Amino acid sequence: CGITGYIGAREAVSTALNNLKRLEYRGYDSAGIAYLSSQGLEVVRAEGRIVNLEKLLSQVPAQASAAIAHTRWATHGRPCETNAHPHTDCKKRLAVVHNGIIENYVELRQQLLAQGHVFASETDTETLAHLIEANLPSTTASQKEIARAIRAALSRVRGSYAIAVICTDTPQALYVARQDSPLIIGLGHEEKLIASDITALLQHTRHMVPLEDGDFAVITPQRVIITDRQGSVQERAVLHVDWDDQAAEKGGYAHFMLKEIHEGPRTVQDTLRGRLAKEERIAFPGLSLTPQDLQRFERIAIVGCGTAYHAGAVGKRWLEQWLRRPVEISVASEFRYSDPIVGPDTLVILISQSGETADTLAAMREAKARGATTLAIVNVIGSTLAREADAVILTQAGPEIGVASTKAYLAQLVVLALLGLFLAQLESPGGLPPHLQTLVSALPEMPQLLERCLQQEEAIKALARKLVSSKSFFYLGRGLDYATALEAALKLKEISYLHAEAYPAGEMKHGPLALIEPGVAVIGISTQSLTREKMESNLKEVKARQGTVVVVEPEGVVSDGADERIVLPSAPDYLMPILAIAPLQLLAYYIARERGCDIDQPRNLAKSVTVE
Ligand code: G6P
Repeated sequence: CGITGYIGAREAVSTALNNLKRLEYRGYDSAGIAYLSSQGLEVVRAEGRIVNLEKLLSQVPAQASAAIAHTRWATHGRPCETNAHPHTDCKKRLAVVHNGIIENYVELRQQLLAQGHVFASETDTETLAHLIEANLPSTTASQKEIARAIRAALSRVRGSYAIAVICTDTPQALYVARQDSPLIIGLGHEEKLIASDITALLQHTRHMVPLEDGDFAVITPQRVIITDRQGSVQERAVLHVDWDDQAAEKGGYAHFMLKEIHEGPRTVQDTLRGRLAKEERIAFPGLSLTPQDLQRFERIAIVGCGTAYHAGAVGKRWLEQWLRRPVEISVASEFRYSDPIVGPDTLVILISQSGETADTLAAMREAKARGATTLAIVNVIGSTLAREADAVILTQAGPEIGVASTKAYLAQLVVLALLGLFLAQLESPGGLPPHLQTLVSALPEMPQLLERCLQQEEAIKALARKLVSSKSFFYLGRGLDYATALEAALKLKEISYLHAEAYPAGEMKHGPLALIEPGVAVIGISTQSLTREKMESNLKEVKARQGTVVVVEPEGVVSDGADERIVLPSAPDYLMPILAIAPLQLLAYYIARERGCDIDQPRNLAKSVTVE
């Protein structure tokens, strides 16, 4: 879900609505806004996309100086207008927007029902509105009294939340609180904004305060007072964000996803910048890992979700090969509950674009509690993961808006390659072995090679037209190519709703080969010389069962028997995952486009999942 709010001299409804559009990628099952007008508290909500809300609002002349808004990814209660946020108390004295889950809401709801509260929805959030109401004095309340009532309500709540509240008693104030769900305050001149992430605020201000867990704030156009739950004032640093606001706009592309695929080369360049020092050494300014630390790490664990996990799958192979020590990779939601074998001798690398994925945060906290050293690879500066991990490396992808991650994946790969080589450097003070030094020399070439991959766009569009009627897709690879296959298959699933599955190519004959028949497309990724011949045989096995075979391979190599080819520029085998994914992202994009899918906002998904 995404929440936003505005207080200040500008018209609050349209300002909040514009910010909300920038948060739409966080969820789009329903949307709503509450504002304080001369008539009192108004709430407008609509099922479906924000555009539906916008249509409703265009019929009511809204004039307000304070507003809070929400775009929902349904957790409790089905996606419909009644369950859409904001929620209000019985008397419509206050409105609440909420991102997260109130775990004990059933119990609280029963107590409130017994006290005579009448509920209009099935949501956990409405409980919060009534709970605040129950703590308010019956006469007009001051800011202090409202703050006290909200804090009292929150003290009874178990779960995760970022909330914003407006109350008719104090039209000049917004109230916000955070526990395990992100919330950022944007500081403007005589105006303040709030949002679930920094991209929604970039068009207004570069000065932002990310709240920390347990923070509560009273916000007026002039000032922000942050306290803890007991009411003691807290000082929080102001973050200066230098992201380009234009990067959060489509800039002439049909979709954010297409734009972000094309931003791949620049992303790689930006992520390499400052990290390839003189004499071809890798430098991570600000990362204080010593050779002694490295000696302490007997094992390395990599953790992430979705695309970030797939970047980790590539990273695992790199680090294992380059450092010759065991590297485990886990899906974050599994890691936490697996009684993981991590401790003071473990480096846990957490990968996340947003830095707010609840599963990944929970995994980080679990690893820390067990004494491991945590290193976050994260795109969003100031995010919870970036703040809480022991060490941070920022990927430099800029804002990524398309729900299907593309450029952030590339940036994660580049950081993992740099990190692997950096750790190898720590281990060999006399200089890297030649096969790794070659990689350091080849990295600066990657942006340009990636650009060449993207130049095949027209051919890939044509290929998408040929493949779009396939009933099912397999993505096959071995080793690093299998990791690429995982991500390529995810891209297709997410945005085209076609069945796609990644499989280690050699494992097909142990079961899934039974599924191959005419109408099944098989994308064989074959960039590794070590396994090329084996891959060729595996693809022939598919061909013999009349599947359609597309092979992805470097120039100069021509596998026998493929129906179609995607040709990649040549680069050292180890670095091929950085090149191989780009045409496969384009292929997924054009297949989804052929099918008329909503590419930037695929059904049932959200970009940042802040619930476990
Ligand atoms: C969601 C998104 C995916 C993303 C995953 C992890 O499921 O839809 O695209 O890969 O979360 O997100 P993170 O921000 O932690 O990388």
